[in-house]
Amino acid sequence: MSLPIAVLASGRGSNLQAILDAIKAQTLDAQVMVVLSDKPDAKALDRARAEGIAAYYVNPKAYADKAAYEAALLEHIAPYDCALICLAGYMRILSPYFVQHAPCRIMNIHPSLLPSFPGLHAHQQALDYGVKYSGCTVHFVDEGVDSGAIIFQEIVDVYPDDTEDTLSERILIKEHQIYPKAIQMFAEGRLTFDGRRVIVKGAK
Ligand code: GRF
Repeated sequence: MSLPIAVLASGRGSNLQAILDAIKAQTLDAQVMVVLSDKPDAKALDRARAEGIAAYYVNPKAYADKAAYEAALLEHIAPYDCALICLAGYMRILSPYFVQHAPCRIMNIHPSLLPSFPGLHAHQQALDYGVKYSGCTVHFVDEGVDSGAIIFQEIVDVYPDDTEDTLSERILIKEHQIYPKAIQMFAEGRLTFDGRRVIVKGAK
């Protein structure tokens, strides 16, 4: 059976698209059951609807506090019996409430080589620091910010004339490769999590 997943996204949804494309190409045995966004005009919602996938804008301002908002997100996810929640450009920090009450594991993709440059503006942080290599990281989500156990990373060169745009473009290509791959490894039961580290069976 395909892995049922929920996706949370705030923006253009290119990672969601990479997941959908990998499913179509049969390199990812998963089914996106529902897509949720905190932005009414997120392109990710359009991408989901174009595929006939349930897609909801859940307005954070309609709830008294973050926990109430996150409870609403989880209520939207509950009917779909998802085995994984994927953050794909979801720009809000999830509180421990969400992590503790989620019915399944949560994965995220972050555009830096964690643990360097967590949080917002990861590309600019990397450029400001002057690193010569950056990249992206797929990790499980824990209660911290981009601090969960690392599943896959990919490296890209950082060039002297790079801008946030050129660097993010180069990293995005790698994101679209490793996110579907990580989800597939999860679907195949090849990720062992010992509380801190993830061992990927049959991969380096
Ligand atoms: C990606 O760079 C991802 O790593 C970060 O937010 C961006 C989302 O891009 N978390 P998209 O919406 O998937 O195109």
